[in-house]
Parts: sequence; structure tokens; C-alpha cells
Amino acid sequence: MRRAVIQGIGSSLPKNAVSNHDLTRIVETSDEWIVERTGIKQRYLAAEGETTGSLAVAAARAALQDAGMEAQSIDLIVLGTSTPDNTFPATATFVQAELGMVRGAAFDVQAVCSGFVYALSIADSMVRTGSANRALVIGSETFSRILDWSDRTTCVLFGDGAGAVVLEAVEEAEGIEGRGVIATKLHSDGRYKDKLYVDGGPSTTKTVGVLRMEGKEVFKHAVVNISAVMTETLDSMGLTAADIDWIVPHQANKRILDSTAKRFGIPEDKVVITVDRHGNTSAASIPLALDVAVKDGRIKRGDLVLVEAMGGGFTWGAALIRW
Ligand code: ACO
Repeated sequence: MRRAVIQGIGSSLPKNAVSNHDLTRIVETSDEWIVERTGIKQRYLAAEGETTGSLAVAAARAALQDAGMEAQSIDLIVLGTSTPDNTFPATATFVQAELGMVRGAAFDVQAVCSGFVYALSIADSMVRTGSANRALVIGSETFSRILDWSDRTTCVLFGDGAGAVVLEAVEEAEGIEGRGVIATKLHSDGRYKDKLYVDGGPSTTKTVGVLRMEGKEVFKHAVVNISAVMTETLDSMGLTAADIDWIVPHQANKRILDSTAKRFGIPEDKVVITVDRHGNTSAASIPLALDVAVKDGRIKRGDLVLVEAMGGGFTWGAALIRW
């Protein structure tokens, strides 16, 4: 059966690492408060000239190198982002041009923190059904550009970065034995669109706007929705939490990760956590965390990996992958 197999992974972070202590110079906060409530110790913030597009290009190049593939052999780019370089065209087309890729299709997907899971699910469908043979799936964000730096309840939570994977169509065994993306589940519920949103946009205010969030509401829904979609994904393949080698969650907040793991009945040492060093990088957080766990040797070829996310909209989803 034709499957979308992950053949390469890469990531890119801005040059500037900013610790909680560094933030106390511009925000009334403390390292203790941020660590206790979120688990975040530092984040990377884009400097002038570093953009969602430039970070995405660097991550894509690293993923292509890891896969041993030329950009010209790619025929699809799906980029998850809520912080595009421009309102249009899609940042994916900038990446396409920078990579020197002159065929196929490139477009952005906007599902906020679930952006990578949405992008992966779309690219997987296109690869499996034959619309594409080799796809770059990227999550890239510069949330620092849409933060209200006078709102300490939100500005300490986010960071910038990008991660990318290369998918390739490969004939594999059916079911959970074959490598590649095995199952994806996506959801949204627009009734909650005001719980986490940006208060501007081209058609409403003609401005970019800044992020607004009801933190406690988001927390509550995140734990419930993420647990439900993980169960739904595993149920669809007749699996349980015990069958999974690694969970790679969207890195929003250590307390969300802990509560979800507990509810789901998965030991902490099977959960990949990078929120301490990256902060919440929205659509970039899953491929950034995957890259860390692959490069440090935790995730190995053949492992069963479950990725999950929830974000503004609300949107949420999960994907089960045989690495
Ligand atoms: N530093 C110091 N004190 C702060 C800060 C800060 N950065 N921010 C808020 N406080 C204070 C508040 O002013 C308040 O003080 P008060 O009691 O004197 O009024 C106190 O801390 C508690 O504030 P709350 O907003 O009630 O804090 P809470 O315990 O809810 O924690 C947090 C806030 C961390 C945002 C939490 O709600 C949360 O984790 N929510 C999940 C949201 C999230 O992670 N979103 C990411 C995007 S969505 C996603 O990725 C899933």
C-alpha cells in the first residue's frame, strides 16, 4: 500500500536565546512564576531579518539534507503557520523559490498550534492518493511579532522557530506494521474562537493585531480535547497507550503535557518535552521536538510515534506515525 514515509527531518531556531531572567528586564515577571506555571526556562526570539520564511527555509534545507534529497525532487510544500511573512502570497511559495524548486504546489495552512498536524494530514492524503510523491511539511512561526509585550500573561509563553519533515511515497505493509503516517484525526470547534485569537486582520482592522488568550479556558479544553483525539486515533487502529513508543505533543505548557499524560495513562519518560528550552512555538513545536528526539537517539526507525496538538479556533488533532 502507498504510504507517506518520513525520510528526513530538520529544524531551525533564531540566534537569540532569551531566558526568563532576560525577560524580567522588560516584563514584570519572574523565573519562578514562569517555570512553576509553564515549565518554560527560555525561548528563542527572531531578530530583525529572521522571519517565518527564513526559518522555514533553513529547516527545510536541513530536512532535505537529512533525507539525502534535492529540492528539485520535491513536488509539494505544505507550511503550517499563523505568522506568515506577508498576508499573501503564502510563505510556502517564498520557501519554494528560495529552495529553487520550480514545480509542484506550495501553500500555507492556518490552524494555529495545530498547524503542523493539519499540514501533515493534508500532505499525507495528497501523497497517499498520488497527487504528490515527495512533500516538505513545515511548521514555522515568529509569534514574537504578534505578542502584546505589555501583557505578561501571554508574552512570556511563546517563542519562534521552525521544523520540517520530508514525506515520500513508499510501498509499505498495510496497517500498523508499515512505516509512514498510519492515521490522522483533525477537529475544530469555532464556538471557542474568542478564547485564543489575534485582535486584528486584513479584512477587519487592516492591521496585524496581537494575541489575546483566556489562559484558564484554553488549559481546560486542551487537556480534554487532546486526550480525546489521542484515544480516537489509537482506537481507529485498535491500539492502546501501551503500544506507543513516543508521544510528541505540541509544546504549550508543561502542566498541560503532564495532565494529558496522566489522563492518558502514559509514563512521563515516553513524552518528549522541549517546552523548557523552546517555549510555545505554535505550529513549529512538534517538528522541533521531533527533531530533538530523533537527533538525540530516542526516536528510532520503526518506533510508533503519536503527535498531538491543540490551538486557537479551537483546532486540535493527532497523527500516528511508524518512524
Ligand atoms: N509573571 C508573574 N505573574 C503573572 C504573570 C507573569 N508572567 N502572568 C500572570 N501573573 C499573575 C496574574 O496577574 C495573577 O495575579 P493575581 O492573582 O495577583 O491577580 C496570577 O499570576 C495568576 O494569574 P492567572 O492568569 O490566573 O494564572 P494561571 O494560573 O491561569 O496561569 C497560564 C496562566 C500559565 C497562562 C495558564 O492559564 C495556562 O497555562 N494556560 C494554558 C494556555 C496556553 O498554554 N496557551 C498556549 C496557546 S494554546 C496551546 O498551545 C494549547
